[in-house]
Amino acid sequence: MKDETLLCFDDDEYEKNKGAIVPPIYQTSLFSFEKWDDIEQAFSNPDKSFIYSRLHNPGTRLVEKKIAHLAGGEDAKLTASGMGAISAAIMHFVNHGEHIITIKNVYAPANNFIAKFLKEKCNIESTFVEGTTLKQFQDAIRDNTRLIYLESPASITMELQDLEKIVALAKAKGIATIIDNTWCTPLFQKPLSIGVDMEVHSVSKYLNGHSDVVAGIMIGKEKDLNEILVEEHALLGAKMSPFESWLLLRSLRTLPVRMRQHMENGMAVARFLEDHEKIGKVYYPGLESFPQYELGKKQMTGYGSLLSFEIETDELEKVKSFVNALTLFHLGVSWGGHESLVYAPSISYSKELTPEEFKARDIKVGLIRIHVGLEHQDDLIEDLRRALDHL
Ligand SMILES: Cc1ncc(COP(=O)(O)O)c(C=O)c1O
Repeated sequence: MKDETLLCFDDDEYEKNKGAIVPPIYQTSLFSFEKWDDIEQAFSNPDKSFIYSRLHNPGTRLVEKKIAHLAGGEDAKLTASGMGAISAAIMHFVNHGEHIITIKNVYAPANNFIAKFLKEKCNIESTFVEGTTLKQFQDAIRDNTRLIYLESPASITMELQDLEKIVALAKAKGIATIIDNTWCTPLFQKPLSIGVDMEVHSVSKYLNGHSDVVAGIMIGKEKDLNEILVEEHALLGAKMSPFESWLLLRSLRTLPVRMRQHMENGMAVARFLEDHEKIGKVYYPGLESFPQYELGKKQMTGYGSLLSFEIETDELEKVKSFVNALTLFHLGVSWGGHESLVYAPSISYSKELTPEEFKARDIKVGLIRIHVGLEHQDDLIEDLRRALDHL
């Protein structure tokens, strides 16, 4: 089955659900059993049974299997947020006193989780590398390195990591790999087929795509996910709810159509910005001018529509006036929904980071991030043109 068909077709669910074209929501916290032996049997196979919805729920399970299939994984686990998936996945692979390598521009709460939370609570060390060459990873490896955590493209300046080379290095050294694949979705990048051990997503972005659900997912090998099910997943308890998994199933039907349109709109907006005299660099892996364009073509089959660009200024006031002049781009965090968004890292970095930490991230004051939604591209370009005229 092609991806589009897989996402629209529910196989044996129709018969099970009396022909219903939309499977029901199993809005229940627990499942009851006829006899003692039945519940005992369920406890012997928690990964195959419905006991309690913090572990498994039939509606949630349907979506997990669908997304696992889409990504080429053996199984998947949905979580209550992207961070729920990221934290559970990382803790599965790394123990007290071990070491993680990740990238400098990794999603900020993942950075905090690795650099501060895990260090303080679990004595887990970390090294942050640029991530654009294999040597940076090679040089960071220590005897106790257990995990390389990737995000490609990274969600601020969109740098890529060479997945094939990094996986080969990690495998040779017995190090596990995780990738945050939110930007591409499993439609445009299939890291598990290259040998990455686990893929995580903020489902709150493109997979759900309607800005009405906060959720996450881990996709990988059955063995890892079964262990996570009874450890991080069951003990920390960040499980997705039955209603949200039902909304997600609805959203997945249109994922390929939405992604094609996001890509078309994203490309049009990126080309407009690239040609504008008031704009410096545009960070978008779909542009031929992007330094890692060739690598992107090798490991991705399409592009998301989250991109960044630099307004040629050091004055925060000018950046503010540009952002305030936009009318179709909503000012807000997150991305991946139907609506276009604008955000400037200067807003939160100046609150969360010391001036030295901000400088170390190598992020300019004039850096703006936009998410290009599903509105008409001509309207979006006109809105940007008007706001740029203000400068
Ligand atoms: C790249 C990336 N990964 C993970 C997350 C975290 O996902 P959530 O907000 O669903 O916890 C986000 C959220 O913005 C993100 O942008």
